Amino acid sequence: MSGDGPIGLITGGAGAIGSGIARALARDGWRVVLVDRDGEALARIAAALGPAAVAATFTADVCDEQAIRRIVDEAAKRFGRIDGLATAAGSGAALGPRKPFWETKRDDWRLNVETHLVSVMTVCQAVLAHMAARKSGVILNVASGAGLRGGPPQSRQKNAQVYGLAKAGVIAFTQSIALEFAALGVRANCIAPGRAESRHKTADDLLRMAPAEEARETGSSRMSPLGRFGKAEDFGEAAAFLMSDRAGWITGTTLDVSGGVRLH
Ligand SMILES: NC(=O)c1ccc[n+]([C@@H]2O[C@H](COP(=O)([O-])OP(=O)(O)OC[C@H]3O[C@@H](n4cnc5c(N)ncnc54)[C@H](O)[C@@H]3O)[C@@H](O)[C@H]2O)c1
Repeated sequence: MSGDGPIGLITGGAGAIGSGIARALARDGWRVVLVDRDGEALARIAAALGPAAVAATFTADVCDEQAIRRIVDEAAKRFGRIDGLATAAGSGAALGPRKPFWETKRDDWRLNVETHLVSVMTVCQAVLAHMAARKSGVILNVASGAGLRGGPPQSRQKNAQVYGLAKAGVIAFTQSIALEFAALGVRANCIAPGRAESRHKTADDLLRMAPAEEARETGSSRMSPLGRFGKAEDFGEAAAFLMSDRAGWITGTTLDVSGGVRLH
């Protein structure tokens, strides 16, 4: 591993998808800066990746604007640049209770939108300042199938009204910055994962749960036509491609990484 590979900052770096992205980027020669609010999990992921791949780790909440701006500026100063950003913080814990909309509370909406949308805007703004100055950089935002249209009603995430709007916001926001910063040499894209493993459930756990879920409500497991659920490496590969020069003419797009769940 080269000591001067590109620098990629990953939020949610201790999570399933964030660490999957970190592994794929590290394999492709990047050095990663991992940010997560769970310091212990972050340390485990960093140890598994090894010191050649991990340039730095920071324990912080992505909703803490001052902390995130400080981390981005410190990383840019320490390494001289930030070549890539992948935003993968979030998931179940921030969704709040899954209830019919009329039972949800404004505080739950706020937490969800702060975690899944506003935090993405904050870290993108902080990183874009450095990328624009160097006229180079690539952003990969982790959206969700919940933020996309298409597919039968069953393949939509139930009672995820605010999560869906936050993720649709991430997609629209990414398109906006892709246009705005294209002339400054920055590309920005999303991946939209389908139902996948997380720190809380493996892809095999999801497979085991699926029959009971289907028995309760057909289609509710959101099983893909490929017959399995997403794995961290599925998202790592998609992200590493979109963040590489091989995707040099791709910007403002959202890659649906769901095993085709919206096609049937
Ligand atoms: N797993 C899925 O089925 C799935 C599907 C579509 C989209 N996504 C999205 O992918 C992203 C990653 O999810 P995952 O499946 O890897 O979940 P995960 O729970 O495995 O990892 C999420 C990570 O984010 C961190 N995190 C959460 N809130 C944070 C905060 N406020 N500040 C800092 N760190 C925070 C957690 O500590 C955790 O390490 C999320 O944005 C999620 O919405 C996941």
